[in-house]
Amino acid sequence: MIVDLLTYAQVKPVMNQVEIHPYHSQSELVEFCHKVNLQVTAYSPLGSFVDLPAKPIKDPVVLKIAAAHSKTPAQILLRWSLQRGLIAIPKSVNPAHVLENIQVFDFELSAEEMDVINKINKNQRFIEPSGWWGVPYFK
Ligand SMILES: NC(=O)c1ccc[n+]([C@@H]2O[C@H](COP(=O)([O-])OP(=O)(O)OC[C@H]3O[C@@H](n4cnc5c(N)ncnc54)[C@H](OP(=O)(O)O)[C@@H]3O)[C@@H](O)[C@H]2O)c1
Repeated sequence: MIVDLLTYAQVKPVMNQVEIHPYHSQSELVEFCHKVNLQVTAYSPLGSFVDLPAKPIKDPVVLKIAAAHSKTPAQILLRWSLQRGLIAIPKSVNPAHVLENIQVFDFELSAEEMDVINKINKNQRFIEPSGWWGVPYFK
């Protein structure tokens, strides 16, 4: 659909906003968008508000890297997004979390840590409106 759009759009799109976190890393889409000069925004970068037992913010791989950097799991998820060249838009109603979520510019994940996090991808969306709206949104 993006290729189609780029063939005729007189005003080229500059941003694609999609669900991205380590359980839904969207590597091919990100690589393609960057190749055609489209920035990518990661929505639900912490794995969304949906409450499930298995979430990237609770993943043992993320917890271990967080402990190694004395950072929180949320900060690791956001740093992982930033180092992939993404714009991440976490949401919080908790002022302490809002502050925490911007303190991600004073450390760096190693290539090995990035790789380990990349490997926990499950192609799992938490935001799946098909069921909520009765529209086959991602099908
Ligand atoms: N374009 C689209 O179709 C689309 C779709 C979905 C979402 N979005 C946008 O993406 C943004 C974020 O998405 P989202 O709210 O679904 O997911 P998210 O930012 O990945 O996760 C939000 C959840 O994470 C918690 N949280 C935030 N900071 C935290 C921290 N430091 N430590 C622990 N928990 C933390 C929040 O709880 P607390 O409030 O208690 O901190 C909330 O439950 C929103 O602005 C939303 O509008 C866009």
